[in-house]
Amino acid sequence: MSAPRQEVHITEVGPRDGLQNEKTIVDLETKIRFVESLAASGLRSIEVTSFVSPKWVPQLADAEALLRGIKRTSGVSYSALVPNEQGLERALAVGVDAIAVFTAASETFAQRNINATIAQSVAKFAPVAQRAKAAGIRVRGYVSCVIACPFEGAVQPIAVRDVARMLLDIGVDEIDLGDTIGVALPHDIERLYAGLHDTLAPEATVLHLHDTRGTAIACASKALELGVRHFDGSVGGLGGCPYAPGASGNVATEELVTLVEQCGYSTGVSVAQLCAAGRMIAAALGRSLPSRVLAAESCQRADGNAESR
Ligand code: HMG
Ligand code: MG
Repeated sequence: MSAPRQEVHITEVGPRDGLQNEKTIVDLETKIRFVESLAASGLRSIEVTSFVSPKWVPQLADAEALLRGIKRTSGVSYSALVPNEQGLERALAVGVDAIAVFTAASETFAQRNINATIAQSVAKFAPVAQRAKAAGIRVRGYVSCVIACPFEGAVQPIAVRDVARMLLDIGVDEIDLGDTIGVALPHDIERLYAGLHDTLAPEATVLHLHDTRGTAIACASKALELGVRHFDGSVGGLGGCPYAPGASGNVATEELVTLVEQCGYSTGVSVAQLCAAGRMIAAALGRSLPSRVLAAESCQRADGNAESR
């Protein structure tokens, strides 16, 4: 009998990272259908929204209504971004399964994104993490700009390591490394993990790639080789950060799942169902999404439909 395939975990961030950058406000009903459709694909972690200031991210002002509105699938963890204690109160009131605090390895980006220095942000997160853990809620700590910052340029792995340590010291359960503006090449990923070797093993991290320059899948492949076993993706390649000029969407979840499964790992996620969710949100936004797997799947469906007519 052959050995079971090793698992790779995928967190879907489309409803949060994907939608936060959309100028047109997506209505609540559509968001509910989107999250439910993603849960039907076999994903076990979905980052649903953010409890941030609605003045900063108007698209996600309906965070409470969305978390209250979705029919939850058992075995799926529904999480949200939380920048401070006010955000935590809101998240606890609607029963999230996990939260994510978020800072950066670049001072300028932290200032522009959360109006705080790195040290101030971590100091604000300390009571948030403590209270979340006391409530039995898992805490993710994002470090943005792990390769480069849109304002300061190249970021050194040592700066990433120092911020990761600060977050681990306040008790976050996992470190998520964000290539916020999608500039990484495979050798940058190698350099990043080499710089983290005395603090975090690749298997203890989550890798959050944006695909601005079409290099995210090559970077994911390198990261798999290095031992990373948890990635974020956004269906269709939707997304970007409104406070990172020029950043486009995350690596498409269906492209990630295709890569990971073809490399011999199992994700438990159905590409066909992911594509159904991708088509649904693309129709709601009135435009096509950048994912090539989604485009290929849609062509195949169209051919299949043509044959059956
Ligand atoms: P601030 O203006 O410094 O906050 O913003 P403040 O404490 O001075 O409060 C100002 C106002 O905001 C007050 O309201 C507060 O009540 C309100 P007012 O009295 O003016 O009416 N406020 C809140 N309202 C609701 N929920 C809250 C909350 N907190 C304050 N939690 C703050 C500081 C952090 C709040 C703000 O900068 C913010 O919301 N930033 C979020 C920006 C954001 O969401 N960026 C995108 C996500 S990060 C990302 O995409 C990167 C990632 O994907 C990884 C990667 O790709 O690298 C994660
Ligand atoms: Mg992001």
